[in-house]
Amino acid sequence: MKLIWRLKSLNKYNNWIFKLAIAVLLLGFAFRFFFYQSSSFEPNIETPFADSTELSKEPVPSVEIPKPPPPVIVDIPKPPASVNTSETSLSSGVQEHEDETPQEELNDGKCDLFTGDWIPNSSGPMYTNATCSLIEGHQNCMRNGRPDSGYLFWRWNPRDCELPPFDAQRFLEVMRNKRWALIGDSISRNHVQSLLCILSTVEQAVEVYHDEEYKSKRWHFPSHNFTMSNIWSPFLVKAAIFEDNNGVSSSEVQLQLDKLDTNWTNLYQSFDYMIISTGKWFLKAAIYHENDTEVGCHICPGKNLTEKGFVFAYEKALRYAMNFVATSKHKGLIFFRTSTPDHFENGEWHNGGNCTKTTPAKEGEIELKDLNKILRAVELAEFEKASAKAAENGVNLKLLDFTNLLLSRPDGHPGPYRQFHPFAQDKNANVQNDCLHWCLPGPIDYWNDVIMEMAVNG
Ligand SMILES: *[C@@H]1O[C@H](CO)[C@@H](O)[C@H](O)[C@H]1NC(C)=O
Ligand SMILES: *[C@@H]1O[C@H](CO)[C@@H](O)[C@H](O)[C@H]1NC(C)=O
Ligand SMILES: *[C@@H]1O[C@H](CO)[C@@H](O)[C@H](O)[C@H]1NC(C)=O
Ligand SMILES: *[C@@H]1O[C@H](CO)[C@@H](O)[C@H](O)[C@H]1NC(C)=O
Ligand SMILES: *[C@@H]1O[C@H](CO)[C@@H](O)[C@H](O)[C@H]1NC(C)=O
Ligand SMILES: *[C@@H]1O[C@H](CO)[C@@H](O)[C@H](O)[C@H]1NC(C)=O
Ligand SMILES: *[C@@H]1O[C@H](CO)[C@@H](O)[C@H](O)[C@H]1NC(C)=O
Ligand SMILES: *[C@@H]1O[C@H](CO)[C@@H](O)[C@H](O)[C@H]1NC(C)=O
Repeated sequence: MKLIWRLKSLNKYNNWIFKLAIAVLLLGFAFRFFFYQSSSFEPNIETPFADSTELSKEPVPSVEIPKPPPPVIVDIPKPPASVNTSETSLSSGVQEHEDETPQEELNDGKCDLFTGDWIPNSSGPMYTNATCSLIEGHQNCMRNGRPDSGYLFWRWNPRDCELPPFDAQRFLEVMRNKRWALIGDSISRNHVQSLLCILSTVEQAVEVYHDEEYKSKRWHFPSHNFTMSNIWSPFLVKAAIFEDNNGVSSSEVQLQLDKLDTNWTNLYQSFDYMIISTGKWFLKAAIYHENDTEVGCHICPGKNLTEKGFVFAYEKALRYAMNFVATSKHKGLIFFRTSTPDHFENGEWHNGGNCTKTTPAKEGEIELKDLNKILRAVELAEFEKASAKAAENGVNLKLLDFTNLLLSRPDGHPGPYRQFHPFAQDKNANVQNDCLHWCLPGPIDYWNDVIMEMAVNG
């Protein structure tokens, strides 16, 4: 079913590209804020979805960040009374799924870890804001005063297989002397924090490196000699980004579609495990280059360049990156992760969109947005091609397709709680919502159960 659906959406491309070009054109300027990356922290400027690095530097002045806790008594909120811990209340919607076969092919011939349900689980998250000091301010929903806690008491349960919970102790044992890297944009950063927080229940991670702009980082777990890197490479290909400290673009992104970003390729062979992803940055206004020549653009009125649409660039960049991986002779395990869905309702991020749900959605209740469909279709198509080539070359390349897992978690985003107590001054304050990144702890933690199963148990 997924494959059929995908073909359908491929056919819809042309229409969509046109509509999107118009729509995105209108959003043009504002959009740049969305994925803005700042190296500064201007207190007086609203910079919504900064791939912010504030926490990695010094705490935002107005926010009190308690010193690394002497944590013992952890105050984990109790599950709300309304959560019925009987599984049956939720899994009644289990259906026949004809899409098993294609999914299984993509998934190593083992059972499908990506099709399942969120079931209530009263044990809650493995860490909290009090036990983990590595949670970025904008995703620290607990500390920021998110009032509900029901979203913390659901566990991902694949339909056709047992998925044991992430075992941090065992993971670190198995990964002794190994190096991992998560490569991509701010969702990769979101994920690395989740993984580090869980691992830190066994051993504290020590930050051993950060680049000048605090975008790429590396941590070491000394007693396991385990290394975790997070490499900032939002496009995977070479990109020159022109944004000032306030996140205002002075010019389009200059993208070299046939040159990989050496920030990850230079280190590539030094890692044993990698999770590579990209996505939403390709929606931005950009000038496309190939062979050092301008070949077109996306959203560049007045530039006398052909509007190519972002799919043009996304396909080329992904193909190039995946081809590099598939022919790399790498001896470890490489995951390609699809991009993640957002849940803005009543608007988009810049015009009052919000995400107010406090429980997971039922199956089929939320449809993947068209932009997300398009990105994912390109990702799956390019993965399939690369996967065949990787197999021929003895490269172990696997897919992490968390789209459906996350689609049913509209309740897992910070929403207004990307800020510290956003309604403290004014109950009706008009607050920018984040319905793209994920609260920590939150649903993204369960990615790690799946990854452990594939990388350690599988
Ligand atoms: C929980 O679900 C079970 C089975 O569906 C039902 O028998 C029980 O009454 C429910 N409890 C509550 C508190 O809703
Ligand atoms: C809840 O999750 C934990 C692991 O996180 C698991 O050991 C336990 O069996 C689960 N409980 C239920 C009722 O599913
Ligand atoms: C964690 O969040 C709670 C609110 O849920 C807050 O009272 C507490 O101060 C926070 N602790 C830390 C260390 O951020
Ligand atoms: C730690 O792991 C690295 C590989 O990540 C290895 O080169 C190094 O020798 C290890 N150190 C020790 C003390 O085992
Ligand atoms: C690589 O990283 C450096 C430092 O973070 C940055 O200045 C540079 O723009 C990055 N290169 C690319 C191609 O993104
Ligand atoms: C790339 O450009 C150079 C000159 O700038 C040209 O000689 C070469 O043929 C071009 N290669 C491709 C593949 O277009
Ligand atoms: C636009 O580009 C075309 C082809 O490169 C060129 O012939 C034309 O003179 C350009 N127009 C302007 C206004 O620069
Ligand atoms: C969400 O947005 C809608 C439309 O702007 C608004 O009516 C609603 O009050 C918002 N909900 C919250 C909780 O902010």
